Amino acid sequence: MQRLATYVFFIVCCGLELSQLKTDQNCLREKVITFPQLTTTSWAKLHPNESMDMSAVTVCLRFYSDQVTGHPSLFSLATPSLPQDFSLSWSADLKQYQMVIHNTPVQFKGLTFNLNQWNSVCATWDATSGLAQMFANEVASIRKEAGPKTAFKGAPAITLGQYQTQYDGGFQPINVFTGFISDVHMHKQVLSTRQIKTYMEGKKYKHGDYINWHNLKFTIAGSAQVEEKQQVTFHTKEDQI
Ligand SMILES: *[C@@H]1O[C@H](CO)[C@@H](O)[C@H](O)[C@H]1NC(C)=O
Repeated sequence: MQRLATYVFFIVCCGLELSQLKTDQNCLREKVITFPQLTTTSWAKLHPNESMDMSAVTVCLRFYSDQVTGHPSLFSLATPSLPQDFSLSWSADLKQYQMVIHNTPVQFKGLTFNLNQWNSVCATWDATSGLAQMFANEVASIRKEAGPKTAFKGAPAITLGQYQTQYDGGFQPINVFTGFISDVHMHKQVLSTRQIKTYMEGKKYKHGDYINWHNLKFTIAGSAQVEEKQQVTFHTKEDQI
Protein backbone atom coordinates (compact mmCIF):
# COMPACT_ATOMS: atom_id res chain seq x y z
CA MET A 1 0.00 0.00 0.00
CA GLN A 2 2.73 2.37 1.02
CA ARG A 3 4.65 1.45 -2.07
CA LEU A 4 1.66 2.22 -4.23
CA ALA A 5 1.21 5.56 -2.49
CA THR A 6 4.85 6.44 -3.10
CA TYR A 7 4.49 5.44 -6.72
CA VAL A 8 1.38 7.57 -7.21
CA PHE A 9 3.05 10.49 -5.44
CA PHE A 10 6.05 10.14 -7.74
CA ILE A 11 3.88 10.17 -10.88
CA VAL A 12 1.86 13.17 -9.70
CA CYS A 13 4.92 15.18 -8.73
CA CYS A 14 6.86 14.38 -11.87
CA GLY A 15 3.83 15.09 -14.03
CA LEU A 16 3.48 18.52 -12.46
CA GLU A 17 7.20 19.18 -12.55
CA LEU A 18 7.54 18.35 -16.23
CA SER A 19 4.58 20.29 -17.55
CA GLN A 20 4.47 23.04 -14.87
CA LEU A 21 0.71 22.68 -14.61
CA LYS A 22 -1.25 24.05 -11.72
CA THR A 23 -4.86 23.05 -11.12
CA ASP A 24 -6.92 24.90 -8.55
CA GLN A 25 -10.49 25.38 -7.45
CA ASN A 26 -10.88 28.94 -6.30
CA CYS A 27 -12.94 32.08 -6.04
CA LEU A 28 -11.31 34.43 -8.55
CA ARG A 29 -13.40 37.43 -7.53
CA GLU A 30 -11.27 40.60 -7.99
CA LYS A 31 -8.59 38.52 -9.71
CA VAL A 32 -7.26 38.37 -13.25
CA ILE A 33 -5.34 35.76 -15.19
CA THR A 34 -2.28 37.43 -16.68
CA PHE A 35 -0.93 36.21 -20.03
CA PRO A 36 2.43 38.00 -20.18
CA GLN A 37 3.98 36.37 -23.26
CA LEU A 38 3.13 35.88 -26.92
CA THR A 39 3.64 32.16 -26.77
CA THR A 40 1.51 29.10 -27.48
CA THR A 41 2.82 27.44 -24.30
CA SER A 42 0.93 29.73 -21.89
CA TRP A 43 -2.77 29.09 -21.37
CA ALA A 44 -5.58 28.66 -18.86
CA LYS A 45 -8.06 25.79 -19.01
CA LEU A 46 -11.43 25.86 -17.30
CA HIS A 47 -13.02 22.65 -16.03
CA PRO A 48 -16.81 22.69 -15.75
CA ASN A 49 -18.54 20.23 -13.39
CA GLU A 50 -20.60 18.51 -16.05
CA SER A 51 -20.57 17.81 -19.77
CA MET A 52 -22.73 20.02 -22.00
CA ASP A 53 -26.32 19.59 -22.97
CA MET A 54 -27.40 23.15 -23.63
CA SER A 55 -29.53 24.62 -26.36
CA ALA A 56 -28.57 28.19 -25.46
CA VAL A 57 -25.46 29.92 -24.20
CA THR A 58 -24.14 33.22 -22.88
CA VAL A 59 -20.45 33.84 -22.28
CA CYS A 60 -19.31 37.05 -20.58
CA LEU A 61 -15.74 38.09 -19.84
CA ARG A 62 -13.52 41.11 -19.44
CA PHE A 63 -10.16 41.53 -21.14
CA TYR A 64 -7.40 44.11 -21.19
CA SER A 65 -4.75 44.16 -23.88
CA ASP A 66 -2.45 46.27 -26.03
CA GLN A 67 -2.50 44.00 -29.07
CA VAL A 68 -2.84 45.91 -32.35
CA THR A 69 -2.09 43.03 -34.71
CA GLY A 70 -3.11 39.40 -35.04
CA HIS A 71 -6.34 37.72 -34.00
CA PRO A 72 -6.14 37.04 -30.27
CA SER A 73 -8.47 34.38 -28.89
CA LEU A 74 -10.31 35.18 -25.68
CA PHE A 75 -12.39 32.04 -25.10
CA SER A 76 -12.20 28.76 -27.02
CA LEU A 77 -14.44 25.75 -26.43
CA ALA A 78 -13.79 22.49 -28.28
CA THR A 79 -15.51 19.12 -28.30
CA PRO A 80 -14.01 15.98 -29.87
CA SER A 81 -16.31 16.24 -32.92
CA LEU A 82 -16.25 20.06 -33.23
CA PRO A 83 -12.84 21.61 -32.42
CA GLN A 84 -14.32 25.10 -32.81
CA ASP A 85 -17.68 24.46 -31.17
CA PHE A 86 -17.77 27.91 -29.56
CA SER A 87 -15.21 30.68 -29.44
CA LEU A 88 -14.79 34.40 -28.99
CA SER A 89 -11.91 36.41 -30.41
CA TRP A 90 -10.89 39.94 -31.30
CA SER A 91 -9.39 40.49 -34.73
CA ALA A 92 -7.00 43.37 -34.18
CA ASP A 93 -6.15 43.36 -37.90
CA LEU A 94 -9.77 43.72 -39.04
CA LYS A 95 -11.06 45.59 -35.94
CA GLN A 96 -13.94 43.22 -35.39
CA TYR A 97 -15.04 40.57 -32.94
CA GLN A 98 -15.60 37.01 -34.08
CA MET A 99 -17.87 34.40 -32.57
CA VAL A 100 -17.75 30.78 -33.74
CA ILE A 101 -20.81 28.56 -33.33
CA HIS A 102 -20.41 24.86 -34.19
CA ASN A 103 -17.34 25.59 -36.37
CA THR A 104 -19.13 28.44 -38.25
CA PRO A 105 -17.59 31.90 -37.76
CA VAL A 106 -19.67 35.08 -37.63
CA GLN A 107 -18.19 38.60 -37.47
CA PHE A 108 -19.37 41.65 -35.52
CA LYS A 109 -18.16 45.04 -36.69
CA GLY A 110 -18.28 48.45 -35.02
CA LEU A 111 -18.10 47.22 -31.43
CA THR A 112 -15.56 48.98 -29.27
CA PHE A 113 -12.16 47.71 -28.23
CA ASN A 114 -10.26 49.98 -25.87
CA LEU A 115 -6.49 49.66 -25.81
CA ASN A 116 -5.10 49.31 -22.27
CA GLN A 117 -8.53 49.42 -20.66
CA TRP A 118 -10.99 46.82 -19.46
CA ASN A 119 -13.31 45.65 -22.22
CA SER A 120 -16.49 43.89 -21.12
CA VAL A 121 -17.78 41.46 -23.72
CA CYS A 122 -20.83 39.17 -23.77
CA ALA A 123 -21.96 36.78 -26.51
CA THR A 124 -25.30 35.01 -26.74
CA TRP A 125 -26.71 32.33 -29.02
CA ASP A 126 -29.63 29.92 -28.94
CA ALA A 127 -30.42 26.88 -31.05
CA THR A 128 -34.12 27.68 -31.46
CA SER A 129 -33.63 30.92 -33.37
CA GLY A 130 -30.04 30.23 -34.43
CA LEU A 131 -29.32 33.91 -33.75
CA ALA A 132 -26.09 35.22 -32.25
CA GLN A 133 -25.54 38.62 -30.65
CA MET A 134 -22.52 40.33 -29.13
CA PHE A 135 -22.20 43.12 -26.62
CA ALA A 136 -19.03 45.11 -26.00
CA ASN A 137 -18.75 47.91 -23.45
CA GLU A 138 -22.50 48.56 -23.39
CA VAL A 139 -22.91 48.59 -27.17
CA ALA A 140 -25.11 45.85 -28.62
CA SER A 141 -24.51 44.33 -32.05
CA ILE A 142 -27.29 43.37 -34.42
CA ARG A 143 -28.52 39.76 -34.21
CA LYS A 144 -27.04 37.44 -36.83
CA GLU A 145 -27.89 33.98 -38.07
CA ALA A 146 -25.01 31.72 -37.03
CA GLY A 147 -24.23 28.01 -37.10
CA PRO A 148 -26.49 24.97 -37.36
CA LYS A 149 -29.45 24.99 -34.96
CA THR A 150 -28.26 22.16 -32.74
CA ALA A 151 -27.49 22.08 -29.02
CA PHE A 152 -24.01 22.05 -27.48
CA LYS A 153 -23.29 18.51 -26.37
CA GLY A 154 -20.41 16.55 -24.90
CA ALA A 155 -17.36 17.10 -22.73
CA PRO A 156 -15.73 20.41 -23.64
CA ALA A 157 -12.10 21.52 -23.53
CA ILE A 158 -12.22 25.22 -22.65
CA THR A 159 -9.13 27.40 -23.06
CA LEU A 160 -8.54 31.08 -22.37
CA GLY A 161 -5.85 33.00 -24.24
CA GLN A 162 -5.39 30.46 -27.06
CA TYR A 163 -7.45 29.20 -29.99
CA GLN A 164 -8.03 25.45 -30.19
CA THR A 165 -7.81 24.18 -33.76
CA GLN A 166 -8.23 20.65 -32.49
CA TYR A 167 -9.77 19.12 -29.37
CA ASP A 168 -7.65 20.32 -26.48
CA GLY A 169 -4.82 21.91 -28.41
CA GLY A 170 -3.42 22.89 -31.79
CA PHE A 171 -2.61 26.45 -30.71
CA GLN A 172 -1.38 28.92 -33.35
CA PRO A 173 0.86 31.99 -32.79
CA ILE A 174 -1.57 34.33 -34.65
CA ASN A 175 -4.29 33.61 -32.04
CA VAL A 176 -2.23 34.07 -28.87
CA PHE A 177 -3.65 36.61 -26.42
CA THR A 178 -1.48 38.80 -24.18
CA GLY A 179 -2.92 40.88 -21.38
CA PHE A 180 -5.44 40.22 -18.61
CA ILE A 181 -8.66 38.18 -18.67
CA SER A 182 -11.16 38.31 -15.82
CA ASP A 183 -14.78 37.67 -14.73
CA VAL A 184 -15.43 34.75 -17.09
CA HIS A 185 -18.98 33.41 -16.75
CA MET A 186 -20.80 30.90 -18.94
CA HIS A 187 -24.57 30.45 -18.69
CA LYS A 188 -26.80 27.72 -20.10
CA GLN A 189 -29.29 30.32 -21.32
CA VAL A 190 -29.49 33.64 -23.14
CA LEU A 191 -29.27 36.42 -20.57
CA SER A 192 -31.59 39.40 -20.96
CA THR A 193 -30.07 42.66 -22.18
CA ARG A 194 -30.78 44.05 -18.72
CA GLN A 195 -28.72 41.28 -17.09
CA ILE A 196 -25.93 41.91 -19.60
CA LYS A 197 -25.95 45.63 -18.84
CA THR A 198 -25.62 44.85 -15.13
CA TYR A 199 -22.56 42.71 -15.91
CA MET A 200 -21.05 45.50 -18.05
CA GLU A 201 -21.53 47.98 -15.21
CA GLY A 202 -19.92 45.59 -12.69
CA LYS A 203 -23.00 45.75 -10.49
CA LYS A 204 -24.62 42.74 -8.76
CA TYR A 205 -24.71 40.57 -11.82
CA LYS A 206 -25.78 36.96 -12.38
CA HIS A 207 -22.98 34.41 -12.09
CA GLY A 208 -22.58 31.66 -14.67
CA ASP A 209 -24.32 28.36 -13.94
CA TYR A 210 -21.88 26.47 -16.17
CA ILE A 211 -18.63 28.39 -15.60
CA ASN A 212 -18.53 30.63 -12.54
CA TRP A 213 -15.47 32.87 -12.00
CA HIS A 214 -16.31 33.00 -8.30
CA ASN A 215 -16.00 29.22 -7.93
CA LEU A 216 -13.76 28.04 -10.70
CA LYS A 217 -11.78 24.88 -11.32
CA PHE A 218 -8.93 25.76 -13.66
CA THR A 219 -5.42 24.82 -14.78
CA ILE A 220 -2.78 27.32 -15.82
CA ALA A 221 0.40 26.62 -17.74
CA GLY A 222 3.56 28.38 -18.86
CA SER A 223 3.85 32.02 -17.83
CA ALA A 224 0.10 32.51 -17.24
CA GLN A 225 -0.63 33.51 -13.64
CA VAL A 226 -3.35 34.68 -11.29
CA GLU A 227 -2.99 38.22 -9.94
CA GLU A 228 -5.04 40.77 -8.00
CA LYS A 229 -7.03 43.05 -10.29
CA GLN A 230 -6.42 46.14 -8.19
CA GLN A 231 -2.69 45.56 -8.16
CA VAL A 232 -2.33 45.33 -11.93
CA THR A 233 -4.92 47.83 -13.20
CA PHE A 234 -6.65 50.96 -11.89
CA HIS A 235 -9.90 49.42 -10.94
CA THR A 236 -12.89 50.32 -8.81
CA LYS A 237 -14.27 47.34 -6.93
CA GLU A 238 -17.25 45.46 -8.20
CA ASP A 239 -20.36 45.36 -6.08
CA GLN A 240 -20.34 42.44 -3.68
CA ILE A 241 -22.88 39.75 -4.41
C1 LIG B 1 -19.09 22.93 -9.31
O1 LIG B 1 -18.99 22.08 -8.16
C2 LIG B 1 -18.50 22.72 -7.00
C3 LIG B 1 -18.29 21.68 -5.95
O2 LIG B 1 -19.44 20.93 -5.73
C4 LIG B 1 -19.49 23.82 -6.60
O3 LIG B 1 -19.03 24.46 -5.44
C5 LIG B 1 -19.62 24.82 -7.75
O4 LIG B 1 -20.54 25.82 -7.44
C6 LIG B 1 -20.02 24.11 -9.03
N1 LIG B 1 -19.94 25.08 -10.14
C7 LIG B 1 -20.99 25.42 -10.86
C8 LIG B 1 -20.74 26.42 -11.95
O5 LIG B 1 -22.11 24.99 -10.68
